[in-house]
Amino acid sequence: MEKIVVNGGRELHGEVRISGAKNAAVAIIPAAILSDGVCRIENIPNIQDVNLIAEILQQMGAQVKRIDKSTLEIDPRGIREPVATYDLVRHMRASSYLLGALLGKFNRAEVALPGGCDFGVRPIDQHLKGFAVLGARHNVESGMIKVRADKLVGGHVYLDVVSVGATVNIMLAAAKAEGRTIIENAAKEPHIVDLANFLNSMGADVRGAGTDVIKVNGVSRLNGTTYSIIPDQIEAGTYMAAVACAGGNVLLQNVIPKHLESITAKLREMGVIIEEYDDSIRVIRRDRLRRCNVKTMPHPGFPTDMQPQIAAILTMADGTSIVNEAVWDNRFRYVEELRRMGAVISVDGKLAVIEGVDQLEGAPVKATDLRAGAAMIVAALGAKGTTTIEDIRHIQRGYEDVVDKFASIGADIRLVYTKEPNSVTAG
Ligand code: EPU
Repeated sequence: MEKIVVNGGRELHGEVRISGAKNAAVAIIPAAILSDGVCRIENIPNIQDVNLIAEILQQMGAQVKRIDKSTLEIDPRGIREPVATYDLVRHMRASSYLLGALLGKFNRAEVALPGGCDFGVRPIDQHLKGFAVLGARHNVESGMIKVRADKLVGGHVYLDVVSVGATVNIMLAAAKAEGRTIIENAAKEPHIVDLANFLNSMGADVRGAGTDVIKVNGVSRLNGTTYSIIPDQIEAGTYMAAVACAGGNVLLQNVIPKHLESITAKLREMGVIIEEYDDSIRVIRRDRLRRCNVKTMPHPGFPTDMQPQIAAILTMADGTSIVNEAVWDNRFRYVEELRRMGAVISVDGKLAVIEGVDQLEGAPVKATDLRAGAAMIVAALGAKGTTTIEDIRHIQRGYEDVVDKFASIGADIRLVYTKEPNSVTAG
């Protein structure tokens, strides 16, 4: 079993390069299925979720070539059967994007129900509602979702909730549909814009991404392309939180400061100094952090995927903070782990009340999901003493070279291997 061991209490200094965005990559790789040529995708993060989705495409018949650590070439023309079985997709939430991409290409798809981080019910009713508007029927049989259309014809979809996944899936299904699809109340996350840019670089006609109305004019053919993925907003935010927690002065390179605005604003409210440049930002923390309240919202609100990391730093802020998780039903499972380190947090439904303590102490903890795991690293870096983090495969799903990157800015962090077996939990 692999664990991460952190000896906390050391300031972070130096520079870190942020990788490509996980949540853009896991949408763009399936989107390549729609192409009738070779897609070269650059700035791909070398993480498990991305490697898994690329492997799924390969096992379905696509040719996937790794050109270097961050570049893939995908030729989807070998995919004959639009079917992704449970064995292929069970560890991945984003495997649901195969539905939209395969449906868009073959007018039918069969994909096993998705896995991914476990923080409450993760419905896909809005995805299916969108497919239905385009003319596709669906049914669930033996754990597989099957969607099928005689032909896809554009239509008007009004999402009941702002959903990243539904917005992506409907864009994928609509890209080659006949006529125009309008998605209202669409998600506006940077990775939605990135997917639209990728589709347009293949010859699609997608407009309005980044606003809450997206218009997709279907085209008959999509070509191969070369495309570079945006930097990862949440990886950057996690390093920002780490500097806020441990103190120090770090330059984050390969970021889009605009995508970080909600995180930057919150950290500034807490007393962190942030300097923005064209494609980098400097994060400096000298004094004790001030308390603040945080409510997660769809973009451009404060991202739910930064909620555990910001909660981790508020555990040592001066005063009492309230964190309101307004996107997911159950995203406070990590609180118990922070309590082991001396954090004082009470949770009531979607609210966590955090009373700042002077100092967290290192303890054995586990990563209950991807961002919860990131929060454990953040807390451990600011804590006194040694923290051992288990179940780190969750962290490895979404953070490239996380141990090396933190070590390069002065953290006392290392990966250790023990003989105990890995515990089995959902991916
Ligand atoms: N929802 C529905 N019906 C649907 C779809 C969603 O009710 O058909 C609800 C969900 O239950 C949730 C809310 O809408 O309460 C938002 O869900 P969304 O569909 O936006 O989430 P997702 O697409 O499943 C993506 C990210 C998550 C991130 C959320 C919210 C990917 C691969 N995953 O998930 O990222 O938390 O958007 O921003 O893009 C992570 O990276 O750690 C992660 C979990």
